[in-house]
Amino acid sequence: MAEVNITINGQQITAQAGQTILQAARAAGIDIPVLCEHPALATWGACRVCLVEIKYQRALQPACTFPISDGLEIWTESERVVKARKFVLELLFSERNHFCMYCQMSGDCELQDLAYRYEMDHWTFNRSYEPMGLDATRKYFIMEPNRCILCRRCVRACADIAANHTLGLKERGANSMIIADHDVPFGESSCVECGTCLQVCPTGALMDRKAAYGYRDKDDVVSTRSTCTQCSVGCAVDVITKDNRVLRVDGAWDAEPSNGLLCVDGRFKPLYDIPERIEQPMIRRDGKLEEADWTEALSLVAGKLKGTPSAGVAASATTNEALKAFADLFAKVDGKAGRLEACLPDLGYRKHATLQDVQEADFIIVAGVDPLEQNRVVGYFAKRALDHGGRLAIIGDSANGMNGYATLIVNDDDAGEVIELAQKAERAVVLYGADLTPAAVESLKPLAYTALFLGLDGTRNGSGALAAGLDPIEPQKAEVLYLLAGDINQGEAFDAHLNGAFTVVQASQKSALLEKADVVLPSPVWSEQEGHITNLEGKQLALNAAAQMPAGVRGEAEVLNTLAAML
Ligand code: SF4
Ligand code: SF4
Ligand code: SF4
Ligand code: FES
Repeated sequence: MAEVNITINGQQITAQAGQTILQAARAAGIDIPVLCEHPALATWGACRVCLVEIKYQRALQPACTFPISDGLEIWTESERVVKARKFVLELLFSERNHFCMYCQMSGDCELQDLAYRYEMDHWTFNRSYEPMGLDATRKYFIMEPNRCILCRRCVRACADIAANHTLGLKERGANSMIIADHDVPFGESSCVECGTCLQVCPTGALMDRKAAYGYRDKDDVVSTRSTCTQCSVGCAVDVITKDNRVLRVDGAWDAEPSNGLLCVDGRFKPLYDIPERIEQPMIRRDGKLEEADWTEALSLVAGKLKGTPSAGVAASATTNEALKAFADLFAKVDGKAGRLEACLPDLGYRKHATLQDVQEADFIIVAGVDPLEQNRVVGYFAKRALDHGGRLAIIGDSANGMNGYATLIVNDDDAGEVIELAQKAERAVVLYGADLTPAAVESLKPLAYTALFLGLDGTRNGSGALAAGLDPIEPQKAEVLYLLAGDINQGEAFDAHLNGAFTVVQASQKSALLEKADVVLPSPVWSEQEGHITNLEGKQLALNAAAQMPAGVRGEAEVLNTLAAML
């Protein structure tokens, strides 16, 4: 890319042609305040807080939209700029109820930060707003319209990132306000509670229920980059903690696979669905599980595994390292190990699709799965493709969250027209799942060399299990049964495998499964896991522990490797 020489506040800068003043300044470490601009969103140029002075330009110009050119001389904090910026802020503060000291977001608000930065210690203009009703109809976050500055970050985030188009604006001037759909309560709208709008909102207009008055980002919170493990998309997350407590989960704008977009399962549910933890090894004595220490529990398990016919069944809700250690352990014992969950049917296709391929597709086939339920972010990426002219066809006549977006819905055994259209497309992508019927499998085969395929298998880390050599396993006749349950409430998922054998359960949370266990080995929950998963695109993604495990808990791979060493 061609280089451009500009001067900002007297400092010579070499920037890239095509950048805006704001982008060039940011790259050089020069801070220009913004409110409507957000790096993950298309530029809007509405709030005027980023105004800068440019030599030979009669009026001040918004840095977020003004393109740089060779020789440009810019001042970002001149007397004229500061005066204009204060005026913009004074107007914003006069429009709504910005009594920051009474706001839940006090200390964590981009508008308040600017008020401090430009020493706004009084209101210049009379404040004549009409109070507006707060909307608390959504489960995880609240809309407080009186704090809204109409920057429209939320509207753009909902449309361009989540591809959900729930938000819009009603009225004009001082009465303008953000609305959902045709001005229905947010909780009754088409909102899918992905929380993207919440993450981009610069003020206290959108408030996380868990965050209100709880903490401030300026305090000593810790942000840990990790991977969401709630489904096999593996969205990159920043887990925000304080004193070993998880406060919230943010999408990571700068990291694949989803570049900041999360779903309700990844952003909110792990903070609300708090499992009952297993915090200490347990051994069944006289019919009752009793706490034990690790040495005793591991010796008992190793002793049982040694030379005894054994079977191992792993759920995939754990790390690649644990799954590999599980397979390695069973390579040392007299027995067989496999995975709990079924695999997707083999369609003989040539190439995996990535999420990027999904959003760039001009024709998408959905078959045997509802992406909006099972791997929601894949569904949102598919909706982005539709926003850019792509078309969607669904094979299968059962209820599917994507039915309303489809131009064609056909039966499993009548997919000829869909296949023909996909063959004519330039970038066809097939999203398929475990509910594919044999007829649909046959129908899709002609696309094996022309379309890209993304399998949505409904597991957490099924690809990691396959890579570890763990294939689906039938119930075995064995004297020792080892169940690797992972971080999920397994309930009755393993029931088909239970055979009255001596049963070892390695799990993070209590469930009905413990009633069948003879030994229980506690493992970490999602926020404590270390290692990697392999997502549905086949990428290895890192899990970093954002919180410390309780003292009695040990990492799954560590425990399995210790057992292997004891054998
Ligand atoms: S939570 Fe997601 S879907 Fe709902 S309004 Fe916000 S961005 Fe749109
Ligand atoms: S709700 Fe937040 S993001 Fe949306 S317009 Fe208001 S201040 Fe901006
Ligand atoms: S799509 Fe899956 S990985 Fe992404 S946030 Fe939702 S649950 Fe987590
Ligand atoms: S940040 Fe540039 S106009 Fe709002």
